Amino acid sequence: SVQLNSGLIGTRLVNLATTTSTNFEAFRLAEEGAGEGTVVTAEEQSKGKGRLGRIWSSPPGANLYCSVILRPRIKPFEAPQLTFLSAVATARAIEQTTGLKPEIKWPNDVLIDGKKVAGLLNEMSAETDGINDGINFVILGIGVNLNMTADQFPGDLRHPATSLLIEGGAKISRARFTAFLLNELDRLYAGFLDHGFVQVRREWQERCNANGREVVVSNHGRDDIRGLFAGIDGDGALLLRHPDGTVERILSGDVRVL
Ligand code: BTN
Repeated sequence: SVQLNSGLIGTRLVNLATTTSTNFEAFRLAEEGAGEGTVVTAEEQSKGKGRLGRIWSSPPGANLYCSVILRPRIKPFEAPQLTFLSAVATARAIEQTTGLKPEIKWPNDVLIDGKKVAGLLNEMSAETDGINDGINFVILGIGVNLNMTADQFPGDLRHPATSLLIEGGAKISRARFTAFLLNELDRLYAGFLDHGFVQVRREWQERCNANGREVVVSNHGRDDIRGLFAGIDGDGALLLRHPDGTVERILSGDVRVL
């Protein structure tokens, strides 16, 4: 039977020594009926997944690899909003544990000093009977580079990456960081269920690295689009203002601040 808890993230903690991917493991547990708030973490991942089919480098012991099962009663098109929750929760946890100043890069990278320190990957299981569609569950995958050292990063990274250890000079306790992260996620998720996306969206925008800046969006082989970053809309789409005042919605791509 499917348990529906009251949105208490971390009610069940599954800590694995090794796994292919905590997202994969959480997805499997959710299909077996694991309750909302179940959190899967691992010491290492042999097939850590990034967005767009990329690999997420996951050496043993160094970092946080974590996946959270949620079962919100929302429509599939609203599910991407949940990644903005994990981005804000991650930024808050970094601030609280290190005092560093993280920024969020659309859609959902967390950066320190322009370098990527955390990545987020949501996966969902949805259902439709042709009339109604709904979500079975969403997996929030969160990867934070805590104590990785420079020599542990792959040599062929597309964008500069870093860790909290490299940026802050101090080793981070994974247990402590995880507790801060899950607490913030719990708060944000409760707010999301009560009031929707509005509050998270505001904080996300305040934390975004591109606020009011000129940006270039490259979009998988299509022509680059240049414009003024005008925030995100209620669905989480990027809003780009053109010189003639028109605003374009962008659903995927890579944003570079000029
Ligand atoms: C990205 O920036 O491309 C997203 C990276 C997401 C990595 C995390 S680590 C925990 C969870 N398990 C995975 O296999 N991926 C996510």
